[in-house]
Amino acid sequence: MIDYSIDGDGIAAIVWNMADRPMNVMNGDSLAAFREAVYKAIQDKAVKGVIVTSAKNDFVAGADLVNLLKESLDAAKALQNSFALQKLFRDIEKAGKPFVAAINGTALGGGYEICLACHRRIAADNPKALIGLPEASIGLLPGAGGTQRLPRMIGVSKALPMILESKKVDPKAALALGMVDELVAPGELLIRAKAWLLNEGQTGHVKPWDQKGFRVPEAANTPKGAQVFTAGNGMLRAKTMGNYPNAQYIMSCVYEGMLVDIDTGLKIESRYFVACTQSKEARNMIRSLFFSIGEANKLANRPKNVPTQAYTKVGVLGAGMMGAGIAYAASSAGLNVVLLDSTQEAAEKGKAYTAGLLDKRVKAKKTSEADKEKQLGLIKATTSYDDLKGCDLVIEAVFEDRAIKAEVTKKAEAQLEPTAIFASNTSTLPITGLAEASSRPANFIGLHFFSPVDKMPLVEIIRGKQTSDETLARAMDFVKKIRKTPIVVNDSRGFYTSRVFATYVTEGLTMLAEGVAPAVIENAGKMAGMPVGPLALADEVSLELMHRVRSQTRKDLGDAYKSDGSEPVLQAMVEKLGRIGKKAGKGFYDYPADGRKKLWADLGKHFPVKAEQPDVQDVIKRLVYIQSVETARCLEEKVIIDVRDADVGSIMGWGFPPFRGGTVSNIDSVGVKPFVAECDQLAQKFGARFTPPRLLRDMADQGKSFYAA
Ligand code: NAI
Repeated sequence: MIDYSIDGDGIAAIVWNMADRPMNVMNGDSLAAFREAVYKAIQDKAVKGVIVTSAKNDFVAGADLVNLLKESLDAAKALQNSFALQKLFRDIEKAGKPFVAAINGTALGGGYEICLACHRRIAADNPKALIGLPEASIGLLPGAGGTQRLPRMIGVSKALPMILESKKVDPKAALALGMVDELVAPGELLIRAKAWLLNEGQTGHVKPWDQKGFRVPEAANTPKGAQVFTAGNGMLRAKTMGNYPNAQYIMSCVYEGMLVDIDTGLKIESRYFVACTQSKEARNMIRSLFFSIGEANKLANRPKNVPTQAYTKVGVLGAGMMGAGIAYAASSAGLNVVLLDSTQEAAEKGKAYTAGLLDKRVKAKKTSEADKEKQLGLIKATTSYDDLKGCDLVIEAVFEDRAIKAEVTKKAEAQLEPTAIFASNTSTLPITGLAEASSRPANFIGLHFFSPVDKMPLVEIIRGKQTSDETLARAMDFVKKIRKTPIVVNDSRGFYTSRVFATYVTEGLTMLAEGVAPAVIENAGKMAGMPVGPLALADEVSLELMHRVRSQTRKDLGDAYKSDGSEPVLQAMVEKLGRIGKKAGKGFYDYPADGRKKLWADLGKHFPVKAEQPDVQDVIKRLVYIQSVETARCLEEKVIIDVRDADVGSIMGWGFPPFRGGTVSNIDSVGVKPFVAECDQLAQKFGARFTPPRLLRDMADQGKSFYAA
């Protein structure tokens, strides 16, 4: 697990080498072995210096979260563990001999905190390696000295954004920030580490903060520090709305810790760290953002016994916004892409989208001109269906029109092998209906991408009535190949993501019709943790499109169609007022060409604001609960099967607040029983859409939750 050796010059090597893991991680076992090696090296008088490194491609990836969650169930024990780890790292620092971290690859979280404890950090110039303290992204904070050592080393104003925003940087950027001290060619790493230990290290093994007269750059009691913390707190509040206790704790660790000596600072950090581990928010975030996304990426729900499909050539029909994005994603994964549109010009324009994105990457030095050309060479822009020959998969992203979709399906299938898969990227049309145009509906499936495709990591895979297990498995292989995260849903109107997401927007519009002040609605949305308020979101989606989808649904469903409180608002905005959304520069907001959007000043004239306004907490509750209760309905109707997919889809698909863990975890966080009771109250006050489905009532009666504790 940890290899230990001493060479003829008295240099000890402590080498992380966890054989049974793809990456080195910190857990009870590995830390015990590391601890033993560290003290052996410290106590051995023959050892003049110590290299800490790894035998794997990466250095150390951070804490083993399964282990961490288990160990933190008992807060008192968790605190003792944390103190013990702090002491180990502190003993490295005060060893009286030099330790150097030879960072051969990725060093994240606890892995980088080991490096921080060493006297020098030398990194191999490996552009694929990532260095940083990303604990904040899963509701935690760096609890092995990160919040104390990094700001002491590089200053508060540089350290805070690294920690709060969970930034990971490559070794070059880490050098520029002062997070590592030296960069060397990978082959030189150990040679240089040893040379440093035998020379500069022999006198350079006292940390600045262990030297007399050390002052923390930008501590809160310095003029610059006062500024940094004042501005930082304001920014943090604006960004998190107080929803992320760990972010506040990070601020406190740095603020309080920089005013005291390092040993006291480390104690402060341990206490805040343990507080994080006990929070609902961290448990929600770790569950969904780490475990559930990880399982989705590993295709946990892939039908078994279907051989993995390797892809070499895929077709994309329609080179518009979505088709162009899909072509970019597929070519980025090294696949040949046939990008087809009705004119050569449109097809070329779609290909140019990839060129544009790659140009930006070249500029940012994330890729080379040669690799850009190579990738562009993979995309064939065309109007000819003949070119689709040999495609293993064709995805259509033509206009949202049944007749056009049916026509391109037939034309494409005529060129394909009988085993090829045909997928639709429709956002609203049920897959089973679209499959009627197909001569092999078992090979027909929905692959619902999100816009912009290059940035959005989720793909909602929709099974039609006749879609086979094999097609589903092979479609999942494709999503994995292009490095996106799949969730699997069954066919239904709006599928899962659009259906639940729509309830948030609709609830906002309904409140407007009820006389709730627009600013209250919008702020409540953001305070709830959603990326934007529901009215702004409606503008983005386009009020006209929402209005059109409703008209279509009304036509499709006939008497079964249920109207809701948002309809008069949409009708007035689109038909009477001609305010159709952001694209047109006017919707619920005005979008001045040269400034920030502003709520339309005349909204109140058309949707009078009531004198008595609801408590903002009640508005937040409505906006959040409506999404969870609709998700429960999707589970009951088996539109979505796996609760983890529901959580992952909500966070990655439409930005449901991560601290709530997703639409399902949110119910568990509230407690199923209280959630049902509150929904009943909401239903009484605001309408049947809040009525909890049978599934939830039964769970409440039986004292069940969605996830085990
Ligand atoms: P778009 O209008 O930007 O692109 C559609 C493209 O299809 C155009 O380039 C058009 O020339 C081409 N096209 C139309 N008829 C064709 C035909 N017969 N043969 C070949 N090409 C044809 O539309 P967008 O936004 O890319 O949407 C495409 C599909 O993706 C739609 O089904 C839409 O509902 C769905 N979708 C859209 C999302 C969005 O955010 N815009 C999100 C998810 C799905």
